[in-house]
Amino acid sequence: MAVDLSKRVYKDAGGKAGTAHIKELFSGEKVRARIAEMGKEISADFQDLERPVVIGVMKGAIFFLSDLMRNIDTKDPLQLEFVRLASYGSATESSGVIQTPYLDLPNIAHRNIIVVEDIVDSGRTAKFFLEYLRGQFDPKTLKLAALLDKPSRRAVECKADYVGFTIDDLFVVGYGLDYAEQFRELPFLGELVNFS
Ligand code: IMP
Ligand code: MG
Repeated sequence: MAVDLSKRVYKDAGGKAGTAHIKELFSGEKVRARIAEMGKEISADFQDLERPVVIGVMKGAIFFLSDLMRNIDTKDPLQLEFVRLASYGSATESSGVIQTPYLDLPNIAHRNIIVVEDIVDSGRTAKFFLEYLRGQFDPKTLKLAALLDKPSRRAVECKADYVGFTIDDLFVVGYGLDYAEQFRELPFLGELVNFS
């Protein structure tokens, strides 16, 4: 029997279990098809650029990043780097203060960079990181790819160059996105509807 992924066990910080109700928004198939299109777009834009660097923002971008990178085809070799950024707050609301638990990049001065993010929500994380890269490395090209965009939530100006899906103000989990570090492994994008 197929596992019902719309009801998932959730454990709160105290270890108390409940049920999270998750409504599928985009199936895994749909997500992968869209990522393949994004890969084509990025390939066209970066085709003739020297040694592009893909920087994945962990942890949320992990599955998007791995799908996207395998759909990018450029003349010059691609380099992969990671950072880990977080803006701790409540489980659904970012604090606005960006933490940098891992920000160890090699010298990528004047390179052609594609930043890969799970979602642009308030825009603070992406804005912070793009400004950081500009200041540290003066990139020749700097583009932002986000699997999801919630423009209605923007608190600072930030525009992604490549967007998978534009969504309303919903809280989304799966395909790398979490609620309190849970549900990242769901193989689709779903709305976290409620708990019981
Ligand atoms: P920001 O508000 O644009 O800085 O986004 C900060 C981070 O909040 C994102 O990188 C995500 O990790 C997280 N986030 C924002 N919206 C959602 C959501 O709907 N589901 C899961 N994580 C989210
Ligand atoms: Mg998160």
